[in-house]
Amino acid sequence: MKALVYNGPRDVQVKEVPDATIERPTDALVKITSTNICGSDLHMYEGRTEVEEGKVLGHENLGQVIEVGNAVDRIRVGDWVCLPFNIACGFCKNCERGLTGACLFMNPGTAGAAYGFAGMGPYRGGQAEYLRVPYADFNCLILPEDAREKETDYVMLSDIFPTGWHATELAGVKPGESVVIYGCGPVGLMAAHSAMIKGASQVMIVDTHPDRLALAKQIGVIPIDYSRGTAIAEILELTGGEGADRGCECVGYQCHDPAGHEVPHATMNDLVKSVRATGGIGVVGVFVPLDPKAADSLAKVGKIAFDFGLFWSKGQKVGTGQANVKAYNRSLCELIHVGRAKPSWIVSHELGLDEAPDAYKHFDARDKGWTKVILHPAGMAKRAKRASTLKKAMRKEAVAGH
Ligand SMILES: NC(=O)c1ccc[n+]([C@@H]2O[C@H](COP(=O)([O-])OP(=O)(O)OC[C@H]3O[C@@H](n4cnc5c(N)ncnc54)[C@H](O)[C@@H]3O)[C@@H](O)[C@H]2O)c1
Ligand SMILES: [Zn+2]
Ligand SMILES: [Zn+2]
Repeated sequence: MKALVYNGPRDVQVKEVPDATIERPTDALVKITSTNICGSDLHMYEGRTEVEEGKVLGHENLGQVIEVGNAVDRIRVGDWVCLPFNIACGFCKNCERGLTGACLFMNPGTAGAAYGFAGMGPYRGGQAEYLRVPYADFNCLILPEDAREKETDYVMLSDIFPTGWHATELAGVKPGESVVIYGCGPVGLMAAHSAMIKGASQVMIVDTHPDRLALAKQIGVIPIDYSRGTAIAEILELTGGEGADRGCECVGYQCHDPAGHEVPHATMNDLVKSVRATGGIGVVGVFVPLDPKAADSLAKVGKIAFDFGLFWSKGQKVGTGQANVKAYNRSLCELIHVGRAKPSWIVSHELGLDEAPDAYKHFDARDKGWTKVILHPAGMAKRAKRASTLKKAMRKEAVAGH
């Protein structure tokens, strides 16, 4: 089968690899029709992880089941399914409590497994024609009858929509509250969408990219360009001097100043300053225990110069970690199905698998207009046309809906 393979820093290639197959009776084999490129893939792409050469990338996957193992009872050939990026067993101590992002069984010795990801187990990714899904009965979300019509929405259930939602859960967002989000990439935009759906009274989002900030504005979110150097003052001004009730970190360890120099503590310290005393902060942006290629000596060993004194004296709370996609994907799927959520409004490109290496380049450079890329390994000509017409309609609705 054809798959996108990591060769080394900023070097990915589409090539022939051995077919994905059923390896255990609990597996399903899925023909991938949509698979996204994620900001998390860029940490690997930039050579900032220990991912091994030859790894097939891709953890945001949707497709049709074409084969199931003998021990699969619920999932049927022909089902349209979206796969959580976390691969979970369903029976370990953490999975039992809904914490599938920290499954103890699928990647022994650590907590959490994923498709095509550094340090998350031996599993291949779905930026490929086919994907093997372990414990298929547990891991597949069966999509409703409008699976194909709303495919560009449903594929966001694999990661970024639940992850954005998770950021607002960790922060403790309640109706009527104000929320500030750092990072207006796909995850930050999904946190904004989630906060709006949850009934936040005011949502602010901080970034520098005008195209990304414009997307946030389309759904009624207040864009704040931190290259002006006044982001915190603007947030305080907008919240009567108190700071936002809740804050979300949607950038991670490669956060940087407006000139692009990495300052790993920037977003965490800015959040402490721009969230009110006793407020909550949800951190879904990835931070890592070791980052040997970091410019900063603390960051090399996974530490940041965190303003703990201010954080403590403000009595703030913080929650962190991988999103437990399964804890949210069924409910968020329902919101998409009935038209209350339209995560596809951020999709900028729908491309064939062969175009993936070029797409990585543009998305990595955060080139203007490259907000979210969906790859269609099973072909895309007709679909993309339909989707772009749909997307225009959705954007109009999304704006009208808020
Ligand atoms: N916890 C999880 O389960 C989970 C899941 C998916 C992604 N992630 C992580 O979420 C983060 C965001 O993902 P994405 O796909 O949106 O990535 P992205 O890189 O496309 O977006 C990040 C955005 O943050 C902005 N930014 C950089 N420095 C900033 C600063 N100092 N202040 C404000 N904004 C700043 C960038 O301009 C960019 O637009 C990544 O770290 C990714 O790995 C975590
Ligand atoms: Zn992702
Ligand atoms: Zn488990």
